[in-house]
Amino acid sequence: MSVVVLVGSQWGDEGKGKVVDILSENFEIVTRYQGGANAGHTVEIGDKKYVLHLIPSGILRENVICVIGNGVVIDPVALLEEIELLEKNNIHVGGRLFISHNAHLIMPYHKLLDSISESGENKIGTTGRGIGPCYIDKYARKGIKIVDLLNRKTLEEKIRENLKEKNNLLRKLYNHDELDAEVIVHQYLEFDKIIDKYIKDVPAYLNNAIEEGKSILLEGAQGALLDVDHGTYPYVTSSSPTSGGACTGSGIPPTKIDSVIGIVKAYTTRVGLGPFPTELLDADGEKLRKIGAEFGATTGRPRRCGWFDAFLVRYSAMINGINTCAVTKLDVLSEFESIKVCVGYEIDGKTVKYFPTDVERLSAAVPIYETLPGWKQDISNCRTYSELPSLTQDYLSFISKQSGIKFNIVGIGPKREQTFFVD
Ligand code: GDP
Ligand code: IMO
Ligand code: MG
Repeated sequence: MSVVVLVGSQWGDEGKGKVVDILSENFEIVTRYQGGANAGHTVEIGDKKYVLHLIPSGILRENVICVIGNGVVIDPVALLEEIELLEKNNIHVGGRLFISHNAHLIMPYHKLLDSISESGENKIGTTGRGIGPCYIDKYARKGIKIVDLLNRKTLEEKIRENLKEKNNLLRKLYNHDELDAEVIVHQYLEFDKIIDKYIKDVPAYLNNAIEEGKSILLEGAQGALLDVDHGTYPYVTSSSPTSGGACTGSGIPPTKIDSVIGIVKAYTTRVGLGPFPTELLDADGEKLRKIGAEFGATTGRPRRCGWFDAFLVRYSAMINGINTCAVTKLDVLSEFESIKVCVGYEIDGKTVKYFPTDVERLSAAVPIYETLPGWKQDISNCRTYSELPSLTQDYLSFISKQSGIKFNIVGIGPKREQTFFVD
């Protein structure tokens, strides 16, 4: 049995949800380790489409236990909505959803501060879910955790203490109305009544499960290039989506991780602001967006689209220690006469050796492209690698070689059956 980390290897939305759903057939536990309801993980089963924001995508398989680790920031409103939606669809979470007592809570003022800061000059293009402000409080050691819900007195004190500072900020800096502590205390005490039964000592639970030989899939949200340390800072999220974050965000030690699986899209997309060297601002970009239905699963924003960036994926593979890889949305390229792949960058006329995460250098990067012929035929009904047209196989071999990763899983459509394993 094994412990596997699954990571987004570009700027998010690579199709992690779909791959987790497929892999979780063979895992007993699926655990989210970072991020929050900024994530939107889509799983299509038959004619049903589920978009999961906080609950691991393994929840759609009834034998799988799902765990939300300490590294996740939890908005109780979003969590309860998600639980309700699943229950409505006859997917029962009772007894198979657990939440770490050490996960931090997103408070109403986090969402408000996120939206205020996005209306100013230093925009990131966030999802507006309060993610950044919540992690700020966590690292400033002022955060309110799930465990605080269990003690009414502590909860009230912490909310009042935090609100003193936030209201000061809202009033003086942003000229905004103050928030009412009573209302928030009442609201979070109500949440507690529902959330209580899911709270667990997650590190103890997961490490015991490993001892018992159980298999665990750690589901990353976002992607490596949105990582607060290794991404295109400041145009990143405020957590650690890369594989290292899986340990701190779950309580599973590095010595217990068996492998890392990277998810890449057959081209590149990004939502929000920040440099994107292979972005296509022309008809080809529009075509990728239209065929790939590239609109945010959380915010509905149009995703920026561009060619596959092998130089970026090679960097991502290094940072994450990717052993195996899934490539998704290959079918979206089927209508292109020719397809470009970025194999490196030039900055100031010089070829660069290492991927530049510094935004100024990355903004100045000019992609070096190789052009490959398109296969111009529908591949969405292929069920094995050998059924793929030879030009599609050539494209896969090329991006695999240029990125330094091996593809074990290929996605040629959003449905479960439109994904196959490569021997
Ligand atoms: P995630 O955040 O990484 O889980 O990805 P999203 O769910 O935000 O976005 C991926 C989108 O692509 C979803 O709408 C999926 O249903 C869809 N998708 C996943 N794999 C494939 C594929 O192989 N082909 C096509 N056409 N769509 C896919
Ligand atoms: P999944 O898990 C794509 C982006 C936002 C913004 C930046 C910071 O579905 O792949 P935040 O709200 O996190 O403070 O926003 O990160 N972002 C994502 N982009 N997929 C996601 O999640 C994302 N989560 C955050 O668009 O640029
Ligand atoms: Mg998504």
